[in-house]
Amino acid sequence: MAQEVIAIEGGHPLRGTVRISGAKNATVALIPAIVLSDSPVEIYGVPNISDVDALAVLLKELDCEVKKEGDTLKVDPSHMNNTPLTSEAVDKLRASYYFMGALLGKYGEVTIRMPGGCYLGPRPIDLHLKGFEALGATITYNEEEGTYHLKADHLKGAEIYLDFASVGATINILLAAVRADGKTTINNAAREPEIIDVANLLTKMGAHIRGVGTDTIIVEGVTEMHGTMHEIIPDRIEAGTFLIIAAAIGERVLVQNVITQHLDALLLKLREMGVRMEIVGDSILVYGGFTDFNPVEVTTQIYPGYATDLQQPLTTLMTQAHGQSHVIETIYKERFGHCAQLNKMGANIETGDACCYVNGPTPLHGARVEATDLRCGAALVVAGLMAEGVTEITNVYHIDRGYDNIDRKLIALGAHVSRYMVED
Ligand code: EPZ
Repeated sequence: MAQEVIAIEGGHPLRGTVRISGAKNATVALIPAIVLSDSPVEIYGVPNISDVDALAVLLKELDCEVKKEGDTLKVDPSHMNNTPLTSEAVDKLRASYYFMGALLGKYGEVTIRMPGGCYLGPRPIDLHLKGFEALGATITYNEEEGTYHLKADHLKGAEIYLDFASVGATINILLAAVRADGKTTINNAAREPEIIDVANLLTKMGAHIRGVGTDTIIVEGVTEMHGTMHEIIPDRIEAGTFLIIAAAIGERVLVQNVITQHLDALLLKLREMGVRMEIVGDSILVYGGFTDFNPVEVTTQIYPGYATDLQQPLTTLMTQAHGQSHVIETIYKERFGHCAQLNKMGANIETGDACCYVNGPTPLHGARVEATDLRCGAALVVAGLMAEGVTEITNVYHIDRGYDNIDRKLIALGAHVSRYMVED
């Protein structure tokens, strides 16, 4: 069967400026959050990614009016209906599960298919469901249809403790709690910047939320929420990916529209590897051309620790370090699909139990490789840009789910990137 590949002819040094788009992992929660409003909401800086298209389909299934003009998304939920979300669009991304919290909050009831998303090992949603139950929801799972039905006659604030500071569970519970009766406290809440962005939108829509950005979030439920306007924060993972690309093959690359504090852990690791960078306002200038990288040890952690989403692209840079680097994954223990692909390109990576060892430096060469998940795709893009010859990356839909116009942005920096169809 024919399929599309992203083809990269490696070895061309990059120069210039790249502007970072709105954060994917904020956007995919902000869009479902809008249904809590009774009037139109506009969000700006919406990335051009296929996850947004899938969420727009789901909004339309709920009879919301949806208009996308450039990077602005206008949604009018005034005449929406609480239709069961059982179409294939739910499967396209993990974040469709945010409609659980939002619709439960607004209507006290929701029917939704089990969400999809990247395979990173088991990704249970037990913490989300326990939170909804604590708020008074009864949950049934229809195995035949693969759908959850959540119903609460009276959604009531509660004291909730998350066994793990899950990003998804924190946001989902927050979405339901803003419309519950009384006070909800989410203890051991996650603190990722995307959660703060969602809480900011909810607050503008009329919610009463305190403590976001700490591990204790307190919500006083409200009965009505209204329209507003909101600008999405820049994507720290896209920014991190471009910083790694610039370190790998850049001559002088300015990564613009960045909240540098969101990238502290990555910046420290890049500096430890020997990369020279300068922070200039909301931009980071990377001086490339450096090849004598130091090996590093990275342990992924919840924010503000080193992000699991940036572990995979950094692994590619580690292949050029002089000595052995070590990645320890504490969030998604099986997130190492990229290692076998990088080895096909000449890397020397051994995987262990929730970790990998990268032995460098090893020259990389072009090969046909598979993006096994979104950030594996990013790791392979970094590798393709550095490798000698042409790298063809298959399963490009993973990359298109999360990177806004990646081809155009790379080509503008001087990379040789194209797309074409190949036979399997
Ligand atoms: C979000 O996933 C992001 N996705 C992921 O980004 C990111 O890797 C992850 O947070 C960690 O930062 C979105 O925002 C859409 P979690 P999420 O709930 O919310 C376990 C990317 O590449 N867990 O914090 O699913 C879970 O299995 C993507 O952009 C439970 O056990 O992450 C994992 O081991 C991929 N039960 C850990 O917690 C639950 O109910 C962290 O998951 C929920 C989670």
